[in-house]
Amino acid sequence: MDKVIIFDTTLRDGEQAAGGTLNIQEKLEIARQLEKLNVDVIEAGFPVTSPGDFEAVRLIAREIRTPVICILTHANLDAVDQSWEAVKEAEHPRIHIVLSSSDIHLFYQLKKSREEILEMSCNTVARAREYCDNVEFSAMDASRTEPEYIYQILKAVIDAGATTVNIPDTVGYAMPEQFGDLIDGVFKNVSNIDRAVVSVHCHNDLGLAVANSLESVKRGARQVECTINGIGERAGNASLEEIVMAVKTRRDFFNLTTNINTAQIYKTSRLVSELTGFTVQPNKAVVGANAFRHSSGLHIDGVIKMPITFEIMDPKTVGIPSSSLVLGKTSGRHAFRERLAELGYSLTEEDFSRAFSAFKELADKKKEITDRDIESLIAEEQRTISETYHLDRIQVSCGDRGIPTAAVRLITPDGQVLADAALGTGPVDAVYEAINRLVGVPNKLTEFSVKSITEGIDAIGEVLIRIESEGITYTGRGADTDIVVASAKAYMNALNRLLAAKKTTG
Ligand code: KIV
Ligand code: ZN
Repeated sequence: MDKVIIFDTTLRDGEQAAGGTLNIQEKLEIARQLEKLNVDVIEAGFPVTSPGDFEAVRLIAREIRTPVICILTHANLDAVDQSWEAVKEAEHPRIHIVLSSSDIHLFYQLKKSREEILEMSCNTVARAREYCDNVEFSAMDASRTEPEYIYQILKAVIDAGATTVNIPDTVGYAMPEQFGDLIDGVFKNVSNIDRAVVSVHCHNDLGLAVANSLESVKRGARQVECTINGIGERAGNASLEEIVMAVKTRRDFFNLTTNINTAQIYKTSRLVSELTGFTVQPNKAVVGANAFRHSSGLHIDGVIKMPITFEIMDPKTVGIPSSSLVLGKTSGRHAFRERLAELGYSLTEEDFSRAFSAFKELADKKKEITDRDIESLIAEEQRTISETYHLDRIQVSCGDRGIPTAAVRLITPDGQVLADAALGTGPVDAVYEAINRLVGVPNKLTEFSVKSITEGIDAIGEVLIRIESEGITYTGRGADTDIVVASAKAYMNALNRLLAAKKTTG
């Protein structure tokens, strides 16, 4: 059976989503999880665009050994040379060159002729081949390019050394049948196409990214570029989990496989959502909270009698924990460790001890600790590992008559204790004002949302915020049974990320 190569671009196109910036450690953490998911290719970044991206790619290339590590570069000789420096230590490096091909882009944006584009494409591919025998070329905006010109470019870049040729639907404009016909056309009209892998890269502006990708696979494309949870520029990219599960669930139709370890899908989805701050909609296929929940009595009756009546996939296949077991106050280290392992966490002894203390603290406040509570608790612990300022204490007074007041104590990296107090329009505003007096980094709060992660009055509240500083958005998350404390933790998380980014960029 033929294999479809799964090219994950969460760390490059996914990170281009407005408000989805990741820091270097977060990128590394996602790359490690993508390796467990067993993707074939990780597009780790666009190194020439920022020193932070360059460094993240370099670390990923050094550490992640099984998948191909790919970097994106402009079709410019200097950019190819510089980008290679970021990826050269990878076990399996790939250079990915992108250049627009549509007349719309050539005329309005690049102000170049088709001949010039052809020449730049071939020259840069040839340069990349001097470094690396794995080179991909993307004809940007291919779906709005005259097919004859696409055939001409692809033939030329394959002759220049490209080993994968990518046909992007950059603006999500294509219809499945039409896009499939373009892929057919490539196989029929590019005489040397047997020397390269045909890839597709579809955007979701009309909600058709997955449909277009699957149609292309049906017509012979053997690499699909996609992202976890479908995140990416504008409306996002094709969603990895949907493509993989469509190919797996409908093997009878596609007669294809992938290398993906599907049992890692859910965990990867949660991690990406957690680190980017993009919540997964409840009705999202495969990984949404309602994807395997049945509500109608008729459906529940069917599923109890035989799951296949209303479930086309077994939730265990994508790694959704099956047990509804809850832990509580009396659960010991052993039970907690076992539950963590079942949920796919492997913590160092030190991290485990910290997590266990946090678990015990939570169990004092909350009767039943569910899997979602544990996930939230571990995420909260991980957020505090690399922080600059640590939130030590907060105390708030508020009500309908009093003036909201907050006192805050922070610990600096060198162990100094800082404390201050402030008034605000409400308790969260007062806490943020007090923190601002201590940290002193100007920023603007652009988003604030709070949600309860489980049912019940004692549930953990998760706060997601975004702040903006010098045109860059930073996301912060915090979780606690007290939503004012969760709000303070989220703000500290966003500020710590801002400070870390400033340190990297100098
Ligand atoms: O959407 C696009 O065309 C891209 C290319 C870099 C493949 O992201
Ligand atoms: Zn894209």
